[in-house]
Amino acid sequence: EHFFKPIQHTSPQSSHNRTIKISVIGTGNVGMAIAQTILTQDLADIIALVDAKHEKLRGEMLDLQHAAAFLPRTQILASVDYAITADSDLCIVTAGARQISGESRLNLLQRNLSMYKDIIPPLAKYSPHSILLIVSNPVDVLTYVAWKLSGFPANRVIGSGTNLDSSRFRFLIADHLDVNAQDVQAYIVGEHGDSSVALWSSISVGGVPVLSFLEKQEIVYEKETLENIHKAVIESAYEVISLKGYTSWAIGYSVANLARTLLRDQRKIHPVSILATGFYGIDEKEVFLSLPAQLGRGGVIGVTTVHLTDEEAQRLRDSAKTISEVQSQLGI
Ligand code: NAI
Ligand code: LAC
Repeated sequence: EHFFKPIQHTSPQSSHNRTIKISVIGTGNVGMAIAQTILTQDLADIIALVDAKHEKLRGEMLDLQHAAAFLPRTQILASVDYAITADSDLCIVTAGARQISGESRLNLLQRNLSMYKDIIPPLAKYSPHSILLIVSNPVDVLTYVAWKLSGFPANRVIGSGTNLDSSRFRFLIADHLDVNAQDVQAYIVGEHGDSSVALWSSISVGGVPVLSFLEKQEIVYEKETLENIHKAVIESAYEVISLKGYTSWAIGYSVANLARTLLRDQRKIHPVSILATGFYGIDEKEVFLSLPAQLGRGGVIGVTTVHLTDEEAQRLRDSAKTISEVQSQLGI
C-alpha cells in the first residue's frame, strides 16, 4: 500500500498468463550470450542460471539484474543447486569444456560426457515436462546423451545443431549475392561440425531457387564458389576461436531464436539436432543429427522432406555414420 491504493480485482483465469521459465546451465561465454538475448527479446518471465563456479554465477546474475531498468521485467535466479531450475519450460545446456584453437568439437566428448552425467539427471528430475535444448559440444552426441540420461521422449530433446551453421551459410550467401540474409532460405544439415552437409539444391532467395537466381542475375555460377562458401562455414568456428578464443554472439542469437520458436509455438522449421534414425535413409541406430524440423511448444512436431540430390543424401548418411561411430563408443 506504500505506492498504490489497491483496487478490487479478480486474477485472470485464462492460461495465457502462464509464467514461462527458462533455465540456462553453464554461465560462460555462450550461456551468458544466450541469457542476455533471451532477456532482451523478452522470451521468459523467469530465467534461472546454474553453473559450477558459484562466484562467477552470482556475479553474472547481479550484473544482469542491474540492467533491469532497461529490460522487460524478468526474474533472474541463480544457484549451484539444480532445485533453482524446478518447473522450467525450457532447459538450455551450455556447460562444458570448449575447443582450444584448432581442436575439433568431437575431441571434447569425454570431458563433457562426464559433466552431463551430473547435469542432465537433476534437470530432468526438477523439470520432467521441459524441453531440453543442448548446446555444449560435440552437440549431436551430447544431445543423444541427454536423451538417454533424461528418459524424455525424443521430441523434447533437441540440439542447437546446424541452426548456427545455417545462419553462417545464409550470411555468406547473402553477402555473395548482395541480398538480405533473412531472404535467403538455406539449410546445412548433418553433424554440427566438419562433416556437415550443405543442401545446395534447395536454397532459395526470396522464393527463387538460387541456382536459377544466379543464372537470372547473370552471376557466374561456379560450383567451386558455392563449395568454398560451405568450406568457409565449416572453417568459421575455428577462425573465430583462433581470433577471440571462443564463439558466442551468433550461437546466442541462434539459440534465442530456437527458444522463441519453441516457447511461442511458432511451428517454424529449423535445422536442429534430432533423433534422425529412419529419415532420409539414415539407418544408424538412435543417431542425433540436424535435419529441417518443425518446432513448437511440444518440441519437435515433424521433419520436413526436403528434396536431396543423391550426392547430398550420401553425404548426410556419411555424416550420420561419423556420429554413430563416436556414439557407439560411449557405452550408455
Ligand atoms: P566457457 O568455458 O565460457 O563456459 C563453460 C561453463 O560451464 C563455465 O562457466 C563452467 O564453470 C561451466 N561448467 C563446467 N562444468 C560444469 C558443471 N558440471 N555444471 C555446471 N556448469 C559447469 O565455455 P563456452 O565458450 O561458454 O562454451 C560452452 C560450450 O558450448 C562448449 O562445449 C562449446 O564447445 C559449446 N559451444 C557450442 C556451440 C554450438 O553451436 N553448439 C557454439 C559455441 C560453443
Ligand atoms: C561453433 C562451435 C564452437 O560452431 O561449435 O561456434
